[in-house]
Amino acid sequence: MPDFSKTILVTGGAGFIGSHVVRLFVNKYPHYKIVNGDALTYAGNLENLKDVQEKANYVFEKVDITDEQSVNHLFEQYRFDAVIHLAAESHVDRSIMDPLAFVRTNVLGTVVLLNTCRNYWKNQYAGKLFYHVSTDEVYGSLGESGFFTEETPYDPHSPYSASKASSDHFVMAYHDTYGLPVVMSNCSNNYGSHHFPEKLIPLMINNIKNKKPLPVYGKGENVRDWLYVEDHARAIDTIFHTGKQGESYNVGGFNEWKNIDLVKLLCRIMDQKLGRAAGESEQLISYVTDRPGHDLRYAIDATKLHKELGWSPSLQFEEGLEKTVDWYLANEDWINHVTSGDYQKYYEEQYKH
Ligand code: NAD
Ligand code: TYD
Repeated sequence: MPDFSKTILVTGGAGFIGSHVVRLFVNKYPHYKIVNGDALTYAGNLENLKDVQEKANYVFEKVDITDEQSVNHLFEQYRFDAVIHLAAESHVDRSIMDPLAFVRTNVLGTVVLLNTCRNYWKNQYAGKLFYHVSTDEVYGSLGESGFFTEETPYDPHSPYSASKASSDHFVMAYHDTYGLPVVMSNCSNNYGSHHFPEKLIPLMINNIKNKKPLPVYGKGENVRDWLYVEDHARAIDTIFHTGKQGESYNVGGFNEWKNIDLVKLLCRIMDQKLGRAAGESEQLISYVTDRPGHDLRYAIDATKLHKELGWSPSLQFEEGLEKTVDWYLANEDWINHVTSGDYQKYYEEQYKH
């Protein structure tokens, strides 16, 4: 049994971003032991980590972060030096259907973890860190201009963003009140492989492939700022190792797209890849009832992260999007597994109008 220099709990490691973080850390840091703690909800899938599951420095533990006893037990078993906390309910539309699930996991679950760190580390904080992964959605919505900086006041509008904002406040409260060593980041919308197809980009790729309607909310005028998921994982690596305790860092690639323009770009890329006539997939676009409380525009100013810690995104959007489409086309089994069963029920309920 090799000696490990650190043992890190990555919560939500079986999800979209978490699986990329686990893969990066397991491969880049063989001297760290990475424990993936995940409840395996509809969004968690161990298939995402097939390529690292046999590695000596990786282990999976099924755990619900809202269950204090199980979390305690895990801390006793592994004596974690650090937590990288990604486990969450993450989809805005689901938060509108069932807000309490978001309060439970995102707020209560985060506080259970913070409390366990506090109790377990007992003021012996040298070498310890709680890293909270959050979202730009806590800042609310921008008008036509301007960017979110780390100083932008919180103004969440959806139950999802309100629950993440609440968890962010608890993280900083544990730092200010108990001196818990914490760091946090707020990232813009991610895209890439292993993204659950309830979110815009994978949903559209899947529907284009299957010639199903492409449901664009409202007029498609809402703007999101897209970052390749592996660039986010690299940012988390940088902040984990060099971020200042008690601070937060915005993560984003200055890459804003109106939803409708993005959907049309995806249609063009996929028409080419699938050998369809130019313009064929755009015919599938269907404008549907808008999301209630739909934030107009997100745009991250990531200057602090770039200037202080030297991180920059590595990929151009068109290149990242093509890689993403290629991954979905090559991984039909993955998409078939995650879209069976419960997903069908969710889809029918969400898109019934
Ligand atoms: P995801 O929904 O793909 O994955 C969430 C993971 O958490 C799943 O594996 C799920 O099984 C697990 N989980 C859920 N409830 C749990 C519980 N009670 N106990 C243990 N595990 C539980 O989410 P994602 O898109 O990978 O997001 C990960 C984190 O990054 C979230 O905190 C999210 O708020 C944040 N974030 C996401 C984005 C984005 O664009 N997806 C952008 C910025 C920040
Ligand atoms: P989503 O991927 O759910 O991320 P978020 O709401 O967290 O930004 O949605 C991205 C954008 O796409 C958002 O403005 C809502 C819109 N959208 C649609 O137009 N149609 C859809 O079917 C979905 C899922 C999202």
